[in-house]
Amino acid sequence: MNKKLRQAIIAGNWKMNKTRPEAKALIEALIPVAKNATCGVVICVPFTNLETAVELTKGTNIKVGAQNCHFEKSGAFTGEISADMLTEMGVEYVVIGHSERRQYFGETDVTVNKRTKAAVAAGLKVLLCVGELLEEREQGITEEIVGLQTKVAVMGLTADEIKNIVIAYEPVWAIGTGKTATDEQAEEVCAYIRGVVEKLYSKADADAMTIQYGGSMNPKNAAGLLTKENIDGGLIGGASLKAEDFAVLLEAASK
Ligand code: 13P
Repeated sequence: MNKKLRQAIIAGNWKMNKTRPEAKALIEALIPVAKNATCGVVICVPFTNLETAVELTKGTNIKVGAQNCHFEKSGAFTGEISADMLTEMGVEYVVIGHSERRQYFGETDVTVNKRTKAAVAAGLKVLLCVGELLEEREQGITEEIVGLQTKVAVMGLTADEIKNIVIAYEPVWAIGTGKTATDEQAEEVCAYIRGVVEKLYSKADADAMTIQYGGSMNPKNAAGLLTKENIDGGLIGGASLKAEDFAVLLEAASK
C-alpha cells in the first residue's frame, strides 16, 4: 500500500473568516490539539492574519498557508500579493485555484497555472484545488474536467517541482453545502487524479503525491474518507474554524 509512504495533510482553509483577535484565539486553541498529530497540519488564513499565524505557530507543528498569490513578482497589481511576499514572512503553503476564486473572481485554468508556477518558483508548497460542478458530474464529465484542470495547472512544472504540489479534489457541489461526496466517489476521483499525474510524470511521483479531499469534510465523515487508499488528508473549510472539530480530523488523519 503506497498510502503509508505518503504524508496525509489536514489543511484548514479559513476563507474570509476571523479578525486578528479571533485568529489568535483559534490558533492558541489549535496548538495543543495539533501537538500529537502525525499528519501534516496547515492553516490557510486570510492575508491579514498571516503575520499573527506565523508568529504564534513558531516552534509548533502547525504550518501556515495563504489562500492565493499573484503570478508576477511585483508591480502595478492593486490588491494582489506576490509569492515572494509570502515566503519572506515565513508562509510555507498557498491555496491556488480554489473553486470560489474560479467562480467569483474569474480564475481560469491558465491563471491557476501561472500562479502555481510563481508559487513553486518562490519556494511555496501549493494546495492546488480542482473539482467539478454538479452539472458536470451529472453530465458524466467529472474526469474530463478534473483531468484538464490538473493538466493545465501543472503545465511547465518539472518532476522536481511537482514534489511541491498537493492536489485537493474539491467537488464544487460539496463545498459548504453539507453534501459530502461518498467515500467511493471521492476515492474514485482522487485515484483518477493520481493516474493523471502518473501519465504526466512517473509512477513514483504519483505514488508520492499527497491528494486531499475537500468539501464538507467534518468530524462525522472524515474517518471513512481518510481510510481510502488515494485520499491523503483533507482541505477543510467550516470544520477548520472550531478547534474541537479540527482536532477530530487531525486524529482521524493520524491513524
Ligand atoms: P467546507 O469544508 O466548508 O465545505 O469547505 C471546503 C473547502 O472549500 C476547503 O477549501
